Amino acid sequence: MAAAWFIVDFQNSSICILLCLFSFLCYSFFFLKKRNNSGQGCVLPPSPPSLPIIGHLHLLLSPIIHKSLQKLSSKHGPLLYLRLFNVPIILVSSASIAYELFKTQDENVSTRNLPTNEGSIFFGSSGFITQPYGGYFKFVKKIVTTKLLGPQALERSRGIRADEANRFYLNLIDKATKNESVEIAEEAMKLISNSMCKMLLGKGFSEDQEKVRGLLDETDLMSMKFFVAAILRKPLGISLFEKDLASISHRYDEVLEKSLLECEQHNQSSDMLTVLLEACQGKTGEYKITRNHIKSLFVDFFIAGTNNPTNTIKWTMAEIFNNPKILGRLREEIDSVIEKTRLIQETDLPNLPYLQAVVKEALRLHPPAPLILRNFREACKVKGFDVLEKTTLVVNIYDVMRDPDIWEDPKEFKPERFLPSSRSFQEDEIKEEILKYIPFGIGRRGCPGSNLSYLSVGTAIGVMVQCFDWKIEGDKINMEEVPRTMTLTMAHPLKCTPILRNVKPLLSIV
Ligand code: HEM
Repeated sequence: MAAAWFIVDFQNSSICILLCLFSFLCYSFFFLKKRNNSGQGCVLPPSPPSLPIIGHLHLLLSPIIHKSLQKLSSKHGPLLYLRLFNVPIILVSSASIAYELFKTQDENVSTRNLPTNEGSIFFGSSGFITQPYGGYFKFVKKIVTTKLLGPQALERSRGIRADEANRFYLNLIDKATKNESVEIAEEAMKLISNSMCKMLLGKGFSEDQEKVRGLLDETDLMSMKFFVAAILRKPLGISLFEKDLASISHRYDEVLEKSLLECEQHNQSSDMLTVLLEACQGKTGEYKITRNHIKSLFVDFFIAGTNNPTNTIKWTMAEIFNNPKILGRLREEIDSVIEKTRLIQETDLPNLPYLQAVVKEALRLHPPAPLILRNFREACKVKGFDVLEKTTLVVNIYDVMRDPDIWEDPKEFKPERFLPSSRSFQEDEIKEEILKYIPFGIGRRGCPGSNLSYLSVGTAIGVMVQCFDWKIEGDKINMEEVPRTMTLTMAHPLKCTPILRNVKPLLSIV
């Protein structure tokens, strides 16, 4: 039902784009002329043949966009100049170019320049993801990386995640006892979103968890529209889905306002909320954080911090099911490190290098956010080519992490490649290593949730491998991807039946 709605909806937005094409015609024509004049004498990166007015739009309107961009790069090269109407785009698809670009231009490309809706807490101007790189962004980023998602904050919220991991385990035991199948993504989504809701709003928050999950599904289905909007920018981009934005924003606002009021009235703030309310009351310093800023940041965390780990758990389990030898080795490692009487917990992860390598390899092959979108603030040179100011940057991280010049057997699932190496690296090599593996993005605007994600995903996979055997439907999992969304999501449900390995439930340490 939801899929059918989305296909119709996508068709509507395609028609809308085509209509806009005609109304945009005259404007584009004159603007293009001006732009070409200003770019005279420039040596732009190579560009595939384009059509008049729409440029390369026809090449981008395909069901799975990171794969069509990959095809484009394999034919025309890893650094390309594309154009959508009058919007210039640089597409980067190789690890070496991403490395050079971010080594020299990180600050220059640290703004996304996304179109925003004034006053909206979703895709609005007070959001963190939409924030231009500058004083306010740096101020909030510091709070995020130290007080909200830093090592000490994650240690303080460990109890919440352990509670939820235990609930996840008990639910799987229940299914196993009844010989019922589960859909891995559904169970993973409950685990991750409940943990996230409680980390943000406190342990008492549970009534509206369902509502938040429903909103997250809607947001995910809109991701293709965001991409088009982000590329086309103001004023056309945002107008494509202003009504949907307002509706989702209003519903997030209702849930969050209610929870904030409850937290304040009963003096039951979560750790994260306490930090932000203090900043809101001006106790933290330079910049004033408003109530709208807090809500927008929480919406950003819900969106970025739930779907991505959920998808990662599903892809990782699918790879494990398709590779029984990997399942065997994982189980051997877990059984040898953890006593057979207790459940795996986050603090075990540093002692489980193979489990960590399996998660890393799943993220390499199936990065849930496959395209990074930024904007060049100033003109610059990349690989000797000119890039004009305000050009949109798209880094195809899906392609970068399958670059055959860097990765041996890039399409194979080989967790061993991430096992600690005995070789010691030079400083430059370490930087290069970091920049070729980029499921969490790069540089100043890279994802602040990577540590939290490794903890939640690692523990979830650990519980499923440590405690259950799995009966899957058919011989192999079908790894096809969902078309027409910007997140890399598996097309088919991952249905399987858990079978208890130990008759006696393991002790959980909560
Ligand atoms: C498997 C899990 C995750 C993956 C693969 C992932 C991936 C990404 C990527 C690719 C970006 C764009 C980075 C760039 O432009 O260079 C991003 C940004 C972001 N992510 Fe994540 N993410 C994950 C989990 C999380 C979690 C758990 C949170 C929060 C609790 C989070 C919060 C954010 C935020 C706030 C941004 C925007 C950062 C900025 O604008 O500076 N993510 N993420």
